[in-house]
Amino acid sequence: MQFLLFLGVLGGLLINLAATQSKFTPARPPSLPLAVKSPYLSTWFPAGSNGGNGGYLPGQWPTFWTGQITGWAGLIRVDGNAFAWMGAPKSIKTATQTAYEYTSTKSIFTIEVDGKVSMKVTFLSPLTPEDFKRQSLIFSYMQVEVSSLDGSNHDVQLYTDISAEWISGDHGDVAQWDFGTTDGISYHKVWKQTQMLFSEKNDQSEWGNIYYATDSAESLTYQSGPDNDVRGAFATGGKLANSKDSNFRAISSNWPVFAHAVNLGSVGSSATSTLFSIGLCQEEAIQFLGKDGLAVLPSLWKSYFSDDLAALSFFHKDYSESSTLSSQLDDKISRDSIAAAGQDYLTLTSLAARQAFGAVQLVGTAEKSYLFLKEISSNGNTQTVDVIYPASPIFMYLNPELLRLLLDPHFENQESGHYPNKWAIHDLGTHYPNATGHPDGNDEPMPLEECGNNLVMVLAYAQRSKNTDYLRHHYPILQQWAEYLVEDSLYPSEQLSTDDFAGHLVNQTNLALKGIIGLEAMSQISSLIGEANDAKNYTSIAHDYITKWIDLGNNKNANPAHSILNYGNPNTHGLLYNLYNDRLLGTNLVPDSIYTQQSAFYPTTKATYGVPLDTRNQYTKSDWEVFVAAISSQETRDMFISDLAKWVNETSTSKPFTDLYETATGEFPAGIEFKARPVMGGMFALLALPK
Ligand SMILES: *[C@@H]1O[C@H](CO)[C@@H](O)[C@H](O)[C@H]1NC(C)=O
Ligand SMILES: *[C@@H]1O[C@H](CO)[C@@H](O)[C@H](O)[C@H]1NC(C)=O
Ligand SMILES: *[C@@H]1O[C@H](CO)[C@@H](O)[C@H](O)[C@H]1NC(C)=O
Ligand SMILES: *[C@@H]1O[C@H](CO)[C@@H](O)[C@H](O)[C@H]1NC(C)=O
Repeated sequence: MQFLLFLGVLGGLLINLAATQSKFTPARPPSLPLAVKSPYLSTWFPAGSNGGNGGYLPGQWPTFWTGQITGWAGLIRVDGNAFAWMGAPKSIKTATQTAYEYTSTKSIFTIEVDGKVSMKVTFLSPLTPEDFKRQSLIFSYMQVEVSSLDGSNHDVQLYTDISAEWISGDHGDVAQWDFGTTDGISYHKVWKQTQMLFSEKNDQSEWGNIYYATDSAESLTYQSGPDNDVRGAFATGGKLANSKDSNFRAISSNWPVFAHAVNLGSVGSSATSTLFSIGLCQEEAIQFLGKDGLAVLPSLWKSYFSDDLAALSFFHKDYSESSTLSSQLDDKISRDSIAAAGQDYLTLTSLAARQAFGAVQLVGTAEKSYLFLKEISSNGNTQTVDVIYPASPIFMYLNPELLRLLLDPHFENQESGHYPNKWAIHDLGTHYPNATGHPDGNDEPMPLEECGNNLVMVLAYAQRSKNTDYLRHHYPILQQWAEYLVEDSLYPSEQLSTDDFAGHLVNQTNLALKGIIGLEAMSQISSLIGEANDAKNYTSIAHDYITKWIDLGNNKNANPAHSILNYGNPNTHGLLYNLYNDRLLGTNLVPDSIYTQQSAFYPTTKATYGVPLDTRNQYTKSDWEVFVAAISSQETRDMFISDLAKWVNETSTSKPFTDLYETATGEFPAGIEFKARPVMGGMFALLALPK
């Protein structure tokens, strides 16, 4: 009897396990992007086993990129029985996810409810790199389609809510809220009662309004109130009270939620579709120390829309056009990635696209726009040059003007005399959204890194845009940075490179190469604007340096030969990722033999998930791996890409796509969790190369 009972339970468990297997296409990423649109609208779903549930939308809460929950619930009632399809509401059974798929702009879940109805839930965070009006909106869609699964009609009601966790990183802070209608749209508006302009807590922003909206309809009811009450009301009655909780209180005090419920009525085999929009409206975006001194920059959407509701209304009604544009972008990235290096490569680029754009935001006015970037997670720096640089391939590929909008604030700040050092600044502010610069010159010093980065990016931009006026306009400061490279690039003094977590080092081979290629870039910049003498001088210095660098920076006697981590240490090695610049710019400064040498060498140091960054550690940087892959032989390129795609599918990390992981275990290095960083734009390194 007991044995039979046990078998029965076991059988049930097995059936349950078998039934809850979801397919993941093209892979199961560490964290699934849900609403990822800016540094402050960044909601993900943890999947990796170390903190995530495998990637099953029903049964776990979505989170902000840092890991704190951004409460977002989905319930459905089928023939009187309630199930959760998103989140982990108390005492409600979960529906069964059968598939998850991602593209560059969408996350699509297929969920079955009680064997009766099927749901397709599409999270679309639109990307329109050439359409700034649309790109400037900090909004994301969730479309829910429901159809019968078993051939019968079912009585269905749909429910979703958000908590006030979206408005502050401190759950003791007091929330306020309202419900309204505009233009055929019903919306909840939630904000922090005490607005704190330009402030963050736990990386969430402490000002502005969150909106959660859907189409107004007879069949729609709404409610705000304590989470268990509101969800419970829907679970039992299938509708909400059309009432507002007027007890404004702390986010975590009886967790106020803001809910919509739609009565779908009798649902048959043809899908009914309901659209929700979620977003953040902040009129003021950035404090910037630019040419007119310290100024407040508005969000760019303010140039196109008079107020929050106009922006919300445009966005919500734009779904058809917006999803078409996003599908076109998905197709372009898919086509180009597969042509460049196959499906594994697309697995990487399509996961990285929203993440890279999710760290930037368009600000300013239509006449004078900027793209501001948050470094994210390694620290909160604004506009870090050596983060813009690894991110830049996605911008070069999708719209090089976006790269200019990232560089412009740097030129404006430094050309206005706000930075005392002769080399290029590291970042424009210690903490986003403050771009108040470093008038004292005490930024994190990476002089060679940032001078080289700027010269490389400026030339890459000019080559792609044909905008030579830009070069002429900024020529004096470009020359100032080139002078620094003349002094320091061949024998780099002891300093940090962008990989600052690995520490200071003198005579870094890879860093020297960045500077030397930077000098050749300067020669081409001079040449493009007719400064022939300068062009001749810089190229002759670059050629002299590269000849010396080949001897200083490579161990030709090793078998196989390889570049070394720093001069005089023949048994060291590392990813020579700055060689990428020579192909990116078409400078042809470095002989082919170096490329061939490196391609042959990397496979000899690889571990399960990739090639270590250098001899000091077993961890690697995924952005730099793809930079290296882009200039390797086909075989070595494919090795890098397939190991990284395998990592995406298998890693136990559950945070948005890291750029720093252990090559043997796929885990974070002890004590360092890089995540959600824009540098994943570097996945596009193959696509940024000239054709
Ligand atoms: C991802 O892992 C799953 C399960 O381990 C496996 O079935 C699937 O083929 C893998 N997908 C890719 C693209 O490697
Ligand atoms: C930005 O600067 C303001 C002062 O102007 C300050 O109150 C705020 O805390 C700063 N924000 C961050 C994220 O450091
Ligand atoms: C840097 O390398 C050069 C060439 O090998 C060497 O002469 C110099 O001493 C090195 N600098 C330091 C500080 O080790
Ligand atoms: C070439 O550049 C170097 C370093 O900037 C400078 O010292 C030298 O005067 C220049 N020579 C010419 C001919 O311009």
